[in-house]
Amino acid sequence: MNREAGPATLPDTLAWALALVARGVADRRHAFHTPVLATVGLDGAPQARTVVLRGLDPTTRQLRLHTDARAGKVAELDASPRASLLFYDAGAQLQLRLGGTATLHRDDAVADAAWAASRDFSRMCYAIQPAPGQPVALPPAAPLDSEAGRPHFCAVILHLSRLESLHLAASGHRRARFDWDATGTLSATWLVP
Ligand SMILES: Cc1cc2nc3c(=O)[nH]c(=O)nc-3n(C[C@H](O)[C@H](O)[C@H](O)COP(=O)(O)O)c2cc1C
Repeated sequence: MNREAGPATLPDTLAWALALVARGVADRRHAFHTPVLATVGLDGAPQARTVVLRGLDPTTRQLRLHTDARAGKVAELDASPRASLLFYDAGAQLQLRLGGTATLHRDDAVADAAWAASRDFSRMCYAIQPAPGQPVALPPAAPLDSEAGRPHFCAVILHLSRLESLHLAASGHRRARFDWDATGTLSATWLVP
């Protein structure tokens, strides 16, 4: 691949994008470690916030995030499961817009496996009281009991149905869209940037 121009074919573009997303899971310092999750608010207005990317299964096209079941985004996804994840890597000059449908996992094998793989430091976040987003007179102290967080822990699986990439290059920006239908069949096209 010409590093400046980026991948020249659609299959190479998709492979490059997914490899960088996988790197975002594994490398805490990588820009793709903290994408922006966008949901439809309960009032219909868009809602966006930074999240940590916890997992990617490229075979099933599933991405995993972790959150507090009491958080606003969980109620939003429960009401309207369509969601988008936005990534930008300034080094690679690459933006990815991922779209799909989210499923919520609080009390099943997905949640149990995600909790088991979490570090104590991460688990403690879910023990915060009162619930995230509540107005309080003063910021609450950090929780110390990691096991108290388990009832509030929620894994979010985003089932990917669209990936759009935009690679910026002086020789010409390259924008591509990849769509998977309900049977998993992929269609891909370049788009005018
Ligand atoms: C760097 C960074 C990483 C974050 N990671 C997560 C995360 O993995 N899960 C999460 O629920 N919130 C995470 N947050 C907090 C969210 O951005 C947001 O403030 C919070 O989840 C409440 O959002 P909500 O009210 O829309 O649910 C993170 C924030 C930052 C700045």
